[in-house]
Amino acid sequence: MKVNFDLCGVNIDEMRSFQNKIDNIYCKLYSNDHSAGTDWVDWPALCDGDVLEPIYKLANEINKNSEVLFVIGIGGSFLGAKSGIELLGQNSKTNVRFIGYNMDYENLLNELGYAKDMNVTVNVVSKSGSTSEILATLNIVEDFLKDKYGKDYIKHLIFTTDMESGYLSDRAKSEGITLLGIPKYMGGRYSVLSAVGLLPFAVAGIDIKKLIDGAKDAYNELKSPLVENNNSFKYAVYRYLLKNKLNKSIELFASFIPNFRFFGDWLSQLFNESEGKDGNGLFVTNASYSTDLHSIGQFIQDGSRILGETIISSNYFNKDTSLKNITNESPIKFLEGKKISEIIKAQLEGTVKAHSLADVPIIMFELDRIDEYNYGYLVYFFEHACAVSGYLLSINPFNQPGVEQYKNCMKELL
Ligand code: PA5
Repeated sequence: MKVNFDLCGVNIDEMRSFQNKIDNIYCKLYSNDHSAGTDWVDWPALCDGDVLEPIYKLANEINKNSEVLFVIGIGGSFLGAKSGIELLGQNSKTNVRFIGYNMDYENLLNELGYAKDMNVTVNVVSKSGSTSEILATLNIVEDFLKDKYGKDYIKHLIFTTDMESGYLSDRAKSEGITLLGIPKYMGGRYSVLSAVGLLPFAVAGIDIKKLIDGAKDAYNELKSPLVENNNSFKYAVYRYLLKNKLNKSIELFASFIPNFRFFGDWLSQLFNESEGKDGNGLFVTNASYSTDLHSIGQFIQDGSRILGETIISSNYFNKDTSLKNITNESPIKFLEGKKISEIIKAQLEGTVKAHSLADVPIIMFELDRIDEYNYGYLVYFFEHACAVSGYLLSINPFNQPGVEQYKNCMKELL
């Protein structure tokens, strides 16, 4: 993956001047004590056959026995898996569908109605095992499974949760429900490379070995301690200066690849939940181009100067065609004979030019293709950069005290 910093408004000397701070962060990230929440750091290196084989085995069984896999999860226990499946597609007999990411009963009924006459496996994903949306959805889904399978319904459940403790972990152990463990010091938004994402990916026919290979390469590359040789450090320093030197308050992730929409949502969660603390952090949001150029594009070009743009692109197209036989009267006559890929390339370059002329700092991540390897690489890259970026702001990137607040207020009301 190439990272282009040319238009970001921060130069390499400014980045290098953060080396001392980065040295301290390096020690925290790679410390043997993971209790701060850093089990994800070495995870790609540990994720060998012992981890992948049982997941492949379980996925094969699900593929044999079930036409639908419902994944019940929310936040970090949902967005990662959803983003990978949206980006890489599903290629298996089992349709992976997500529920429980909100409390809407009508939506849930529609999903259960869809699977009424099909064989179903349900994967409940919750690190804490105590999230209201998840347990409320499970409550309803268990009745659905009991109606369908009687006493045997337990065989259709898989719990992905904290291996050691918690309501779901305890239930799995006492009732004989299949249990997949999430490492103790790996929070939801840093967990997609664990069973949280790997099981739904494998069931969807995504090559999880290649995905982990990408993450492993990112892990090895990002161990380089010098800022100037490490794109994660450079990007994290840039983000710090985007706020503190260039006075921006928003980072907008954008891509011309429509299936990146959910990856953008995963990034929004990763950064906002990790950094939005103590009155600090950039607000992170995402856009899908060219759709959103016809909506929020006006603001980016011409509105309050509050945002920096981070673009993820790829020049590789699986499918392409040329426009032909355009009449002389047509306003798009200038596109005669042009390939769709050429048009998208011009859209991208035109957008970058227009936005940078309007003083929008831009950073670009360029992938050689969209595949499992690059997805794994990207996930690990952004997890790493997010942790570094949080530490640069002197906040704890691994907790989420603000989320707890809303849960407490809701509990009081109920
Ligand atoms: O990143 C996080 O920790 C959160 O977004 C959680 O993933 C989310 O709140 C769901 O929690 P749990 O996995 O415990 O059900």
